[in-house]
Amino acid sequence: MLYILDTANLQQIKRAFDLYPMSGVTTNPTIISKENRNFLDILKGIREIIGEDKMLHVQAVSLKAEDIVKEAEYLKDTIGGNIYIKVPVIPEGIKAMKILKKKGIKITATAVFTAQQALMAAIAGAEFVAPYVNRIDNITGNGVGVVAQIVELFEIHQIDAKVLAASFKNVQQVHEVILAGAHSVTVNAEIMDGLLKHPLTDWSVDQFVVDWEGVYGKGKYTCDVK
Ligand code: E4P
Repeated sequence: MLYILDTANLQQIKRAFDLYPMSGVTTNPTIISKENRNFLDILKGIREIIGEDKMLHVQAVSLKAEDIVKEAEYLKDTIGGNIYIKVPVIPEGIKAMKILKKKGIKITATAVFTAQQALMAAIAGAEFVAPYVNRIDNITGNGVGVVAQIVELFEIHQIDAKVLAASFKNVQQVHEVILAGAHSVTVNAEIMDGLLKHPLTDWSVDQFVVDWEGVYGKGKYTCDVK
């Protein structure tokens, strides 16, 4: 199971990669535009922080297959490293995926709302498919259920593609898609922190410090006490 950070904010990326076992970063045009500065500077900044080996998922914005392919080649050459081009699961996107697969460019199928979209994208060559869990829930669908169906379809048909569950509003949704077999999740910085948060953990840690310092002195660590 891989944790991926869904942001283009360099401070958030620096902090999460310092603290947590992160495998990469996902962006989309909305996330990038929130930073409101030069697009390439943002992506190069992310690559500098996460290094060449971690995954960086960047979305093409054109809606015609040939243009998507052009963008993909440009992004691969300009940003470099372990890059995945996000392509939406529209007909021209599927056509682009077939071409990109032949060219050896790695693809993440995005804007996935149904298991059939995910299946077709995987057959067209996507390495990852990204179902939008919370957006599905918001239309009275079952985001976790769609993830479970994709996992099942990939198993039944022995398809290598992986589920990159995306679009979360809370930790419970993340928990449920992981239980359903999602191979990876992309979450914002707040949800990443939320996965670890528990008041009883904080209480226990505070209590350990109080008990220890009561006997060995304030600010003394195990290596200071002979
Ligand atoms: C993945 O990168 C998706 O674009 C993203 O998770 C969508 O999230 P949202 O529905 O919170 O905008």
